[in-house]
Amino acid sequence: MKKIAIVTGANRGLGLATSEALAQRGYKVIMAMRNPDKAQKQINALKMKDLDVVAMKLDQSSEKSITDFVNQIRQEYGFVDVLINNAGILIDSEDGGNSSVFKTKASTVLKTFTTNTLGPFLLTQKIFPLMKQEGYGRIVNVSSGMAQLSQAQVASASYRLSKTALNMVTNLFASEVGDADICVNSVSPGWVRTDMGGPNADRSVEQGIKGILWAATLPKGGPNGGFFRDGEPLTW
Ligand SMILES: NC(=O)c1ccc[n+]([C@@H]2O[C@H](COP(=O)([O-])OP(=O)(O)OC[C@H]3O[C@@H](n4cnc5c(N)ncnc54)[C@H](OP(=O)(O)O)[C@@H]3O)[C@@H](O)[C@H]2O)c1
Repeated sequence: MKKIAIVTGANRGLGLATSEALAQRGYKVIMAMRNPDKAQKQINALKMKDLDVVAMKLDQSSEKSITDFVNQIRQEYGFVDVLINNAGILIDSEDGGNSSVFKTKASTVLKTFTTNTLGPFLLTQKIFPLMKQEGYGRIVNVSSGMAQLSQAQVASASYRLSKTALNMVTNLFASEVGDADICVNSVSPGWVRTDMGGPNADRSVEQGIKGILWAATLPKGGPNGGFFRDGEPLTW
């Protein structure tokens, strides 16, 4: 039977490229996104390549949307092999918090947390049991070098806080795998030329997804509860 992979934020950037790459590797890919209707062009382009992809609606800032999404997954498929928690926002510039931590507004922190941390937490909480019942799963939380406590921090506090907390989400669920062949890891894609990373980033999308694919396809006994870039460990 085909392995099923869920990729969030699959309509553009790293999520779209990860979806294509996993489908090329033989997975059926559930491309989760806020507006499937607006992504018909991207989805059709993958289908034209004979890739097994299906778009499903998910707004990961809404608990109801997450619940509806998982109910649909449960009804239509009943199991999940891979979950890529990729969707994320970087909105610190909206209040000047990208330049100074003193400008960061509470509303920006909350909004960022809701999408970047609580969304992946709730989705993992609901998908993890579907993996546990099959005894197999790979969960990749797309984090950031900006989450690292070991680096000097200047600004973009909301984003940094949310991704550092996402790394704890990784650790919390990694501690729950028991004897199952489940690996839960955080991955930093590096600084990548997407809408979020901008045109000056030093990495292509292909380079950025390399480590995500590595963590999504780890062999049995692969690392669990780690933080990686390009398959190499990062300090928290
Ligand atoms: N690019 C970089 O340099 C870089 C570096 C480190 C980490 N990352 C991380 O990599 C991941 C992907 O980033 P990217 O560079 O591909 O960014 P991007 O091009 O801005 O794409 C972000 C994706 O997240 C989706 N999204 C945002 N809020 C959502 C929500 N509430 N529900 C569902 N989907 C939502 C967006 O959907 P819409 O189209 O609907 O907005 C879009 O598909 C993010 O977690 C980001 O933090 C990126």
